Amino acid sequence: MADNKTEFSRREFLTSSAVALGAAGMFLIDSGRALGRQAPTKKQRIALVGTGGRGSSLWGKDLIKNYGDVLEMVGLCDINPIRLEYAKKYMGATCPTFTEFEPMIKDTQPDTVIVTTVDCFHAKYIGLAMQAGCRPVTEKPMCTDEKMVQEILDTERRTGKKLLVTFNYRYGPDATRIKEILMSREIGDVTSVDFHWYLDIYHGASYFRRWHAFKQNSGSLLVHKATHHFDLMNWWLAAEPVEVNAYGELRKYGYNGLIRGERCMNCPHKAACEFFWDITRDEQAMNLYVKAESADGYIRDSCIFREKINIWDTMNVQVEYHNRVTMSYSLNAFMPYEGFTIGFNGTNGRLDVRVYHNQPWKVENFAEFRITQNFKSTKTFALPSGGEGHWGADQVMQDQIFRKTEPDPLGRPSGSREGALSALVGIAARHSIEQGRPIKIDELVKI
Ligand SMILES: NC(=O)c1ccc[n+]([C@@H]2O[C@H](COP(=O)([O-])OP(=O)(O)OC[C@H]3O[C@@H](n4cnc5c(N)ncnc54)[C@H](O)[C@@H]3O)[C@@H](O)[C@H]2O)c1
Repeated sequence: MADNKTEFSRREFLTSSAVALGAAGMFLIDSGRALGRQAPTKKQRIALVGTGGRGSSLWGKDLIKNYGDVLEMVGLCDINPIRLEYAKKYMGATCPTFTEFEPMIKDTQPDTVIVTTVDCFHAKYIGLAMQAGCRPVTEKPMCTDEKMVQEILDTERRTGKKLLVTFNYRYGPDATRIKEILMSREIGDVTSVDFHWYLDIYHGASYFRRWHAFKQNSGSLLVHKATHHFDLMNWWLAAEPVEVNAYGELRKYGYNGLIRGERCMNCPHKAACEFFWDITRDEQAMNLYVKAESADGYIRDSCIFREKINIWDTMNVQVEYHNRVTMSYSLNAFMPYEGFTIGFNGTNGRLDVRVYHNQPWKVENFAEFRITQNFKSTKTFALPSGGEGHWGADQVMQDQIFRKTEPDPLGRPSGSREGALSALVGIAARHSIEQGRPIKIDELVKI
């Protein structure tokens, strides 16, 4: 439970962070200026660091295609020069490319820097961008440990440059609807939440093939992946996490495998391994990663049974929030189907939601809702999928960032406060598993 010390620190944190980071409304107005909404004749200058999958697609190709009237890509940076050149072509960009960040900033003088590197480098580039007088926009997670959180908050306060963290999951039709229902108070005050997320044997396994398989890169799936979920919960509940207790195990991948190789492409167990993935049949993966291997040695189809993998695939987390709500959360990464179930228990009823992302069988609806008020009947409804790009979320979010000027009634734009509070739940969970004790958020970051 929150003690007085925690409560005091939390208030201090909120007050300081509100000043340092700005409220969501202020953020929108500010981002409107920074991203050129009020000066349509002058295109915003965008530089991007990290030209891998996400950087070259959503924040590269899509940006240039859909927002070319309001922005201009002026520089691209990645440590892998082969991937960088392929990505530039794939995006249809015409700007210069750089294998170092500082020369890119100096030569191209961007207004905005988009950070889409491996997670553990986000903090470095966010900091450098702010110090250079640019507005940073980062992919989730904001960063991977508490020291980085503190550095970002301090640099933001010092430079006055506001960070945008692109929590696209907030913009999905399911997440938005849940927020609306909770805001309507149909089920009263939320007192506790059951939240269970399932990654399947394709998507879940993919994290164990890539750089994500190591805590030092991704902070573990509790940070890399669950930052989405912890952010959704902070936002849905309009609450701040206070204390985290967690359990984690590696039960399927890594050292659990009975057969293993170095990578799928040359594996002697291709025929026997049910997780065999033929990267040669994925043209984009061949161009982005396999053809660029000689520059950095990064293997995109590494064996999911490598013995040195150090992230968990089976995770349980309990979180206590400042308003006495508690959450039981789980993340499992080798399920036969993908999606999530969630139950909000309220003083006047319960909201149940089941969301299907990727099922081996035909599913009529993307999300099924049930709202049941105490002593009353239950009502159900369903939502169809929102479409491409994380169920339509990516496009809605980018439109809001680059085109809309009116404040968002749902408060979806996220700054470093939101980035910090969601990453910190995962970071605290990691420490909790490693140290075998509950961790208070204010043990990690002092404002
Ligand atoms: N919001 C979402 O739904 C979503 C989806 C996918 C990825 N992402 C995020 O996007 C980011 C990139 O993921 P990805 O799937 O594109 O990975 P990726 O491996 O395809 O790309 C990462 C890129 O970063 C580059 N890089 C690594 N270290 C670097 C450094 N020190 N300096 C500069 N560049 C460096 C790599 O060479 C690579 O090109 C991650 O932070 C991830 O969490 C978010």
